[in-house]
Amino acid sequence: MSIRTTAAVFHGADQGLRIEPVDVGPPVAGEVRLRLAACGACLSDVHKLRGHGLVAPPHVFGHEISGTITQVGDGVGSLAVGDRVVCTFLVPCGDCDRCRSGASDECGPFRTHLQREGVRFDGSHRMALPDGSPLRTSGVGGLAGELTMPATAVYQLPADWPSDVSLEDAAVLGCAGLTAYGAVHGAGGVSRGQRVLVIGSGGVGLCVTALAVDAGAVRVVATDLRDEALAAQRDFGAHATIRGDDPEAAARVREALGSPDGADVVIDTIGTPATVSQALQLAAVGGRVVVSGLGGTSGPATIDDITVFVRRKLRLIGSYAAVPSRDMPRLLEAVARGALDPSRLVSRRFAFEDVAAAYDALANGLITGRALVLGPSA
Ligand SMILES: NC(=O)c1ccc[n+]([C@@H]2O[C@H](COP(=O)([O-])OP(=O)(O)OC[C@H]3O[C@@H](n4cnc5c(N)ncnc54)[C@H](O)[C@@H]3O)[C@@H](O)[C@H]2O)c1
Ligand SMILES: [Zn+2]
Ligand SMILES: [Zn+2]
Repeated sequence: MSIRTTAAVFHGADQGLRIEPVDVGPPVAGEVRLRLAACGACLSDVHKLRGHGLVAPPHVFGHEISGTITQVGDGVGSLAVGDRVVCTFLVPCGDCDRCRSGASDECGPFRTHLQREGVRFDGSHRMALPDGSPLRTSGVGGLAGELTMPATAVYQLPADWPSDVSLEDAAVLGCAGLTAYGAVHGAGGVSRGQRVLVIGSGGVGLCVTALAVDAGAVRVVATDLRDEALAAQRDFGAHATIRGDDPEAAARVREALGSPDGADVVIDTIGTPATVSQALQLAAVGGRVVVSGLGGTSGPATIDDITVFVRRKLRLIGSYAAVPSRDMPRLLEAVARGALDPSRLVSRRFAFEDVAAAYDALANGLITGRALVLGPSA
């Protein structure tokens, strides 16, 4: 049976978000239904609010969520009603060649169906407007009091979960945490003794630092344009922080890394032409330049000197999310042993009705770490 709940529905860049009643059907086979605890406000959402999203409006917004399972669909053996869970923003179909070969972060049906069309893998809609018309979801479609999700994206908090990290705060692991995990351990392959440069110190950048330190990096240097963000980086374990707009930034970064050659791994969490260029300049011979930032546009970046790029054997790698079934349990385990504290990442909490204010604050550079939008009160 469908239930009526409240959702944040995006009506296009000119109209923004509206809090509206929506109907959510029961979970189909392979899905669960959950009650939203919280949804993190990610900069990717700001890009979408400005009209750079893929799913046509109207659609239910939000992609970084945690909640409690209220119903379990057929064929889902691993989850039960009452489980406290976090959802990965990348939702593998579980059935395509990439998913079957262990590269579910490259899942095609996720990109075509959930991320572009805003529908289930079978083409049906997960939500409807009160008049019965089908309603798309932007990927997860997380900003709803209740929602259904494929179980391939749903992870129970482990038994040894720290008691001082609330289910609400765990939401930030679904995107910021997962993205950082993929950049550090997947594309970056950060290992003991390496020197790491983190460009950008927002929700993703702070998690990158904590996970790089946990991976044994000997020096982690971080940049940002805001002093509060740099202070947060030091709190997350960065050994040094540098203003990215300092004219002497490159020299200061090299000095702080303790290596005139640059960083073994540079992780650019911003992804603009300027930061990609800076990242390439600051990578050591044989270094990896990982770009996880989406920049907000789809513009070009330049390799300033191809000869230098080749002779220095640099690797430029795009990093998108992580492999959920492999990496989410490892990320949750890292949190359980204190390597990353989601609660320290969350600096502000907004009521569900104030979702637009959360994104306004983020877009205006007023959020350090992450802002959470709490699930609507029942
Ligand atoms: N690849 C993925 O899987 C993935 C997942 C989530 C988010 N993203 C993208 O990652 C980016 C970061 O997301 P977020 O939620 O951490 O953003 P955020 O708003 O929390 O943080 C961004 C930070 O970057 C800083 N900054 C801006 N320009 C800078 C520059 N030139 N040099 C240094 N710092 C700079 C800002 O001051 C801010 O502190 C966004 O583009 C987002 O769309 C990618
Ligand atoms: Zn995100
Ligand atoms: Zn797939």
